Amino acid sequence: MAYSKAWLNYQVVENIRFPFDTLYAETGDKRIQIAAQELQVAAKELAKIKLSLVSDSSQIQRAAKENGAIPAARVVKGGIFLEIDGEMQNEESYRISRQGRGLVVCGGGESGLLYGTFALIRIMQTDPQLLSKICSGKQTVEQAPANPLRMLNHWDNVDGSIERGYAGNSFFFVGNELVIDGRTRDYARLLASVGINGTVINNVNVRGAATELITERCLPQLSRLAELFSSYGVKLYLSLNFAAPIELGGLATCDPLDGQVQDFWKKKMEQVYAKVPSLGGFLVKADSEGRPGPFTYGRNHAEGANMLARAIRPYGGLIIWRCFVYNCRQDWRDRKTDRARAGYDNFMPLDGQFDDNVILQIKNGPMDFQVREPVSPLFSGLKETNMMLEVQAAQEYTGQQRHLCYLVPMWREILDFKTYAAGKGGDGADSVADIVSGRLYGQGNCGMAAVANTGDDENWTGHDMAAANFYGFGRLAFDTALTAEEIAREWVRCTYGCNREILDCMLPMLLSSWETYEKYTSPLGIGWMVNPSHHYGPNVDGYEYDRWGTYHYSDCRGMGVDRTMSGTGYVSQYNEPNCSMYEDIKTCPEELLLFFHHVPYTYRLKTGKTLIQHIYDSHFEGAMQAQNMLLNFDSLKHILPPGAFERIHTRLKVQADHAKEWRDRINTYYFRISGIPDEKGRTIY
Ligand code: GCU
Repeated sequence: MAYSKAWLNYQVVENIRFPFDTLYAETGDKRIQIAAQELQVAAKELAKIKLSLVSDSSQIQRAAKENGAIPAARVVKGGIFLEIDGEMQNEESYRISRQGRGLVVCGGGESGLLYGTFALIRIMQTDPQLLSKICSGKQTVEQAPANPLRMLNHWDNVDGSIERGYAGNSFFFVGNELVIDGRTRDYARLLASVGINGTVINNVNVRGAATELITERCLPQLSRLAELFSSYGVKLYLSLNFAAPIELGGLATCDPLDGQVQDFWKKKMEQVYAKVPSLGGFLVKADSEGRPGPFTYGRNHAEGANMLARAIRPYGGLIIWRCFVYNCRQDWRDRKTDRARAGYDNFMPLDGQFDDNVILQIKNGPMDFQVREPVSPLFSGLKETNMMLEVQAAQEYTGQQRHLCYLVPMWREILDFKTYAAGKGGDGADSVADIVSGRLYGQGNCGMAAVANTGDDENWTGHDMAAANFYGFGRLAFDTALTAEEIAREWVRCTYGCNREILDCMLPMLLSSWETYEKYTSPLGIGWMVNPSHHYGPNVDGYEYDRWGTYHYSDCRGMGVDRTMSGTGYVSQYNEPNCSMYEDIKTCPEELLLFFHHVPYTYRLKTGKTLIQHIYDSHFEGAMQAQNMLLNFDSLKHILPPGAFERIHTRLKVQADHAKEWRDRINTYYFRISGIPDEKGRTIY
């Protein structure tokens, strides 16, 4: 099937100043070879310039000498040099600068050079002013990645389906076989272009045939895949089944302290790494939503994770252990158990007990990728444990890639959240970004992961504009100082070229979409009001009287969960002053009001509106904004490439219709349950 080039859609940039005709690069390493090819293609397509490649080292040295001797101002045409500079901050950093009459793209290592090359291409695509400053020697661009690990987690099943996949089927697996083709390469290219350096290709809910990925049958293909990824600076990771000793090894147990189990894993890693030496390691979901884990044997998560970490250590591998552990067989009548508390309660007591090649991967919030949640308190609590932030680009609870919901503003807020882990009144260097980058505690095994939103659809992400989340995750994980707006601008320009009308229309759409979605679905941090199992569409009580710990406790007087000290006590998991801020209804940020408090409908918000009126207004506004988005988008009818307009338009129409359904169902529910009419007299059924 034909598929799009996404943001690597090089289109001619008018009046581009790119005065180079020769590319000098020693192309022994695959990554440098790819960087050189990529730059040649980009120069041709963006600037109509044919860059001839010189890869002979003595010729390069001669050219470099001559280049240095000639002052930039005197010469019009020059060369581009792709170089490695071992003195740079780290292997993955890069610098783009004018030297003599040439432009030098320099990497701390081969991956850095590849990132630098893609950065130069991105600047050519998006920022002619910056490009001309660089070319004329007025500006140098230098960048090191903020996070050591920048990973995608695919929830692709080996049968070709994708758990929470909203963009078609898997392009990694078809009918229990691993597929490696042109699309796999183009996928790796997309990753490298935004600086993603690791990917887990199979669903962390490892079931059935997927356990076999680490058997002799699959290793040769995995080895080819790992090699292909390596040539783009991407490490292959796999999800594994904690019960593999039973499923594959024929043992009666997977107890991490059992000698036979340890021996199974030792031999398994030996076998796997003999064939796939560059494998990054494994992602594990244990004791979570029915998956096997150490709890069955009375062991804790450190014992479980360390057992695997010790087996993989000789090969430099990592064990990425998820903290999504909670009681999913709750009794909804039990008001004491609070799912939000579970991650912290389970993992805090183990701080300092994990081996250094174990990373705890923590979802951004304490629940499960709702439209808004507070930041998981584990980030503020753990101090001697490697941590990774997990976000979800797949829009499971945010419109499933049928609705436009640009999530970078949410991720930005999460990264900026001040944890006070460095103490009250600290120096400001203890945000989530400071922690997961390893800056605060000097860790190297940490970073960010996103549950991927890709599939085999022609545009990769179902909704064309959902690709902004894919792109945005990579860019933000590499450079946590970028704003959501900067990233959105880049994405629009890279994807659709430097067209003012497209940018003017799409930028506000992207930037307001999260808030719009929140308004017509579940404002004030309440979450969850979706249909069970598939999680699409409104259903206020969909998860209310169920076992999952996902309640809103609405009755005729009020709604929301009391997580204060007199409620479930969840607030106590935060450092001060965050704990007190959430505890007091007056200082609790209103966008999270119902996450932390049970509030009467007549309670007045800071705007002076009652809670119930806010609910009505928010849903009316959200639905109207969704409708306006559809109307505004019409202006791009004859401007966007054929196909793109129709695809996006169709989804915006669905979104506008479904937003009305959300509005009417939620408002009706709260009107009927509270008996309080809308002050503005609008129709509520
Ligand atoms: C959510 C999602 C599941 C997924 C789980 C996880 O609960 O609905 O499909 O398996 O998250 O993160 O493991």
